[in-house]
Amino acid sequence: MRGMKNNVGMTGRRAFLETAGFAGAALAFSGCNSFFKQERQTAAGSYSVAILGDTHYDAEPESVYHSHYDESNRWAKIQHAEFRRNGEMWRTRCPRLLAASAELAKAKETRFVLQLGDIIQGDCDDVPTHKKMLDDCIKLLRAPYPAGLPFLSVVGNHDFRGKGARPAYFEFAEPFLSKELGKPVKYPAFSFRQGDDLWVFCDFEMKTLDPISDLIDADPNARYVFLVTHGPFTPHEAGRSFRWRLGGRAECEVSRPRLYEVLSRRGAIVLSGHTHTTNFYRHENGFGGFTEFTANSVWAKPELATAEPICDVAANYGSIGFSKFEEGVLADFKKEIAFFKSGVKEYFYNNAAGHYRLDVADDAVTMSFYPGDARQCARTFRLDTKPRKAK
Ligand SMILES: [Fe+2]
Repeated sequence: MRGMKNNVGMTGRRAFLETAGFAGAALAFSGCNSFFKQERQTAAGSYSVAILGDTHYDAEPESVYHSHYDESNRWAKIQHAEFRRNGEMWRTRCPRLLAASAELAKAKETRFVLQLGDIIQGDCDDVPTHKKMLDDCIKLLRAPYPAGLPFLSVVGNHDFRGKGARPAYFEFAEPFLSKELGKPVKYPAFSFRQGDDLWVFCDFEMKTLDPISDLIDADPNARYVFLVTHGPFTPHEAGRSFRWRLGGRAECEVSRPRLYEVLSRRGAIVLSGHTHTTNFYRHENGFGGFTEFTANSVWAKPELATAEPICDVAANYGSIGFSKFEEGVLADFKKEIAFFKSGVKEYFYNNAAGHYRLDVADDAVTMSFYPGDARQCARTFRLDTKPRKAK
């Protein structure tokens, strides 16, 4: 197996095949290497990715995936409400959202599909059912896209929620991703090359961020660095679970400044989900800067298909959405926001769902937002940190 060290400075076809696994198992794959085949399609280093945020796949009636659900779960009331929400949106709106994304992928060359975690609801409380939910979901989600298009998904908290679900998820997901990439991968963090770009996937609930920083530092020549994490790195300002993110744990306060600096020095692009919102942040600081984009495909209500922001003023980041916090929580929230706030130079936040397209090229990286099942882009965000032209 090729190790992380061999990933340094490599470009082109060989680098594309290179995957830096963290303690990766030496698996042999004789099957398809979808990425290798796709790489031939563009010579200029530009490519596009179809992006889906959280999808929380589920099906009606509840007995399909939740017949073993443990009703003594203290969160049962909330979780049954989520089952109903998911069943309704996957019966109605989400298939349309998926069809719109796939239609665009057919119309324009697309390198791969990327789903940003919480691909399923979980809560099966039965290992065979949990694995079936994952398998059914992957088949359903990839079916409308062009045949053979690689499909990647990063681990989210719902993906292993339920009894026995954590080992069940990784037993399913690591071989699946390894086959899609044509190389063995293993969480808590792994990387691969797409052309000249470094892509890092991580389990966002890891207690130290150093493995991510190490993977990025080990590849200093990558054109762009993409960090894919279900839980955002930048705190989302609405909701009490602002610490439930990449680097949000108290144990991470030692390793977080290093990752902040590493991302900033490399002008990295963080892609995340989890908050069921569409967010954009551009950070600028003494090290340089980085951007983060949070995507959402949980189309929970028909009206959540708009590009109108709740807030798009950088100076207001962290000043809305916490009005119900009691004093202790508020102080903790402000402390977390303060770590990032002075560096936030662009900000967008809305509650909508949709699908997205990432366009990567030498001169720019952009994310286009298609609310709901839109075929027309409603808003485009610049994700690279190259100097902007004055408006
Ligand atoms: Fe989540």
